[in-house]
Amino acid sequence: MRQINPTQTDAWKRLKDLSEKYKNLSISELFQEPERFERFSVSLEDTLVDYSKNRLNKEIFDTLLDLARECELHKAIESMFTGEAINGTEGRAVLHTALRNQKGNPVYVDGEDVMPEINRVLEKMKVFSTKIQKGEWLGYTGKPIKSLVNIGIGGSDLGPVMVTEALKPYQSENLEIFFVSNVDGTHIAETLRKVDPETTLFFIASKTFTTQETMTNAHTARNWFLDHAKDEKAVAKHFVALSTNQKGVEAFGIDPENMFEFWDWVGGRYSLWSAIGLPIACAIGFDNFKKLLAGAQSMDEHFRHSMFDRNIPVILAMIGIWNTNFLGATSEAILPYDQYLHRFAAYFQQGNMESNGKYVSRDGERVSYSTGPIIWGEPGTNGQHAFYQLIHQGTHLIPCDFIAPAISHNPIGDHHVKLLSNFFAQTEALMNGKSLEQVRSEMNKAGKSVEEIDRVAAHRVFEGNRPTNSILVKKITPYNLGMLIAMYEHKIFVQGVIWNIFSFDQWGVELGKVLASSILPELQSDAEVSSHDGSTNGLINAYKKMRS
Ligand code: F6P
Repeated sequence: MRQINPTQTDAWKRLKDLSEKYKNLSISELFQEPERFERFSVSLEDTLVDYSKNRLNKEIFDTLLDLARECELHKAIESMFTGEAINGTEGRAVLHTALRNQKGNPVYVDGEDVMPEINRVLEKMKVFSTKIQKGEWLGYTGKPIKSLVNIGIGGSDLGPVMVTEALKPYQSENLEIFFVSNVDGTHIAETLRKVDPETTLFFIASKTFTTQETMTNAHTARNWFLDHAKDEKAVAKHFVALSTNQKGVEAFGIDPENMFEFWDWVGGRYSLWSAIGLPIACAIGFDNFKKLLAGAQSMDEHFRHSMFDRNIPVILAMIGIWNTNFLGATSEAILPYDQYLHRFAAYFQQGNMESNGKYVSRDGERVSYSTGPIIWGEPGTNGQHAFYQLIHQGTHLIPCDFIAPAISHNPIGDHHVKLLSNFFAQTEALMNGKSLEQVRSEMNKAGKSVEEIDRVAAHRVFEGNRPTNSILVKKITPYNLGMLIAMYEHKIFVQGVIWNIFSFDQWGVELGKVLASSILPELQSDAEVSSHDGSTNGLINAYKKMRS
């Protein structure tokens, strides 16, 4: 991939001019164009993406796509799909798309087709998950497995958590699933309290099989299990590993037969499609897991082959660039109006922030522009009663993605229409706002005194003109969820290309890890420490006094 500084492109300069020229662009006025909704929305199968409520007109939109072209996005997309080592700092290909390549056409890494290995592991996952689902995988006392416990962190946790929560309606009733990620002993202690060693299966999920949190929790789980089973041989029936590191897995004491492999070209935060997805397949069944992959593949094809002006991930990415680099937004909220999607924002917090939270460009220089925004969010309507105040009337510009299913898995009374009335109302309110005249006239009609109107009216004004995307999905099925996740993955990829950063490494998490490992032995003794700065020494010594 060529190094292209986006700010040196012609399109970037034109976008700068356009941001000045249209600085007072009003979204609601843009709707004077009668076909704006049709022009600024795209449907793909059961998903409709409406991006018409953004501060952009056709001229801006076209220039954003010019920027994508000038940054050679087409070539970058092909480089990813064809297994080029686009993860430059680690010298690795980035091929989560191959994991869902159900057409099976070859995908080469270093001259070798990776599809046969992918299909071999998928077949192994199918056999294993089917046994779990049918109650045929028996524990050491001959009872079927009832509790699945995934031990992993970051990408080895968030994907399976998010997806199993999102697809709970598809989960087998005779299985329960738990996730342990935090090294805080409370997490595993609370989980082990709820499960029975005779009927529990542990997935030790770690790409590297060295991550401190995961290995600590895994050893605790193993000790707890052996305290009950009292037989090392029983471990094989209750522990499986999801990893790239066979040696590490064997050293831990898991039979390689019980290891489900993946490869270094699968990034942690893009790994739910790999063996890391085994707990998903066990919980919702392998056929549903395949549908998840199929949905993602459909989005992959759309992304790879559609013209940029109808290409959903490209459009969302370029709108994000407009908001971040030309309108000054520093964060983006993801707001699903679906309780089952309650971990969706947390999932893409890692997906986005670990990928594009970088200030060094691909040529090793500090960038002169903003890169990845802060991602956050909670399900609606809960968020409305918590932080929407700031989105509506705060001083920050916060572009929001609103996501909702048309059909609920739980059609109880009028709950869903009430939920959706909020979904539609919020984006309308954020766009239109409410003027001072409207507020005054409403208060007047409500019989308020002039003094009260003068005192309060300004506080009840909404400036509006706050940008949103609305993503309406027919129903959150495995297939549609696969599409939705892949849509955001590709949006992140596109933005990384434009910002000329490496989206698939995560060096920024290393420093804290290394320091923690040097502090650990200091905490294991009672001696006073003096090896750090004043604050860190003070804190460690205070902690030692408190615990004694
Ligand atoms: O936090 C850094 C990170 O490397 C993530 O990228 C990754 O998802 C997580 O740790 C877990 O890593 P592993 O799967 O190797 O245990």
